[in-house]
Amino acid sequence: MLTKDLNREKLNVLRMLESEYGKVSQNGIEVLNCGRIANATVFRYKDSEKDLTIKDFSESPWIIKNTVGKLFIKNEANKMLELKNNKSVAGGVKIISPYTFTFNYIEGKPLKGIHGKILDKEFFITLEKNIKKMQDKNIVHLDLRNLGNIIMGKDGYPYIIDFQSAIKTKFLPNFLKKILVDSDLSGVCKAWEKRCVEELDEGRKKFFENFNKLRKIWILKGYPIQKLIRKIKKTVS
Ligand SMILES: Nc1ncnc2c1ncn2[C@@H]1O[C@H](COP(=O)(O)OP(=O)(O)O)[C@@H](O)[C@H]1O
Ligand SMILES: [Mg+2]
Repeated sequence: MLTKDLNREKLNVLRMLESEYGKVSQNGIEVLNCGRIANATVFRYKDSEKDLTIKDFSESPWIIKNTVGKLFIKNEANKMLELKNNKSVAGGVKIISPYTFTFNYIEGKPLKGIHGKILDKEFFITLEKNIKKMQDKNIVHLDLRNLGNIIMGKDGYPYIIDFQSAIKTKFLPNFLKKILVDSDLSGVCKAWEKRCVEELDEGRKKFFENFNKLRKIWILKGYPIQKLIRKIKKTVS
C-alpha cells in the first residue's frame, strides 16, 4: 500500500517555510492530520513569531500531486484569499509551492472535539452571518456539515476551515445554487442542534427538517450531495 514518508514531508515543509518566512526551528512543526494518500497532510508550525497551518501534497505520488493536489491547493488558497475580509476565515494565506499553502493557525477547538451542548446561541448566529457573507460573494463551502471544519476560537469566535471543496456559484442555475447555499446553512443548523445550549428556533428547525427530507430523497436515489458536488466540479472545471 502507498504511504507517505511523514519525516521527509516535515523536512520538505520546513525547507519551504524557511525560504518563505526566514529562519525556522526544527522542533516547531507537528502533524495535525496525516490524511490519506490523495489528501493533503496538515501541519502546524509554531515558534515565537509564527503560528501557521500548512496544507501540503509534496509527499503524495507524482500523479496525485500534479493533478488533484495542485488543483486542491490552488482552489482552497484562492477561495480563502477571496474571503480575506471575512472574520470567520483565517488570514495570512500564502501559496509557497504548487503543492503547498500556509495560513494563520486558529487557536481553539473544532466542534467535533467539543462534547455536549455547551455553546451559546450567539456563536451560531455569528457563524451563520459570516457564511451568508461568504455566499454573497458567490462562494459555497460544501463541507460544513462536518463538525471538524468549524472551529471555536480561543476568543470564542466561530471560524471555518477546509475550503478544499468550495466552489463559485456565479454561473450555476439558480435552483442548483439554492440547494448548495442551503446545504451550507444546514451545516450551521446541524452544529447548532448538536452543540448549542439552546434549541433551534422554529424557523431554522423547519428549514433544517425540510432540507434533511430533500437530502434523504437524494440519498435514496443514490444521489448524495457529494456526488452532486463532484458532478458540478467536473462541469465547472
Ligand atoms: N487554521 C487552523 N487552525 C486550527 N486547526 C486547524 C486549522 N486548519 C486545520 N486545522 C486542524 O487540522 C484538521 C484537518 O484540517 P482540514 O483543513 O479540515 O483538512 P482535511 O481536508 O484533512 O479535513 C482540522 O480538523 C483541524 O483540527
Ligand atoms: Mg476537514
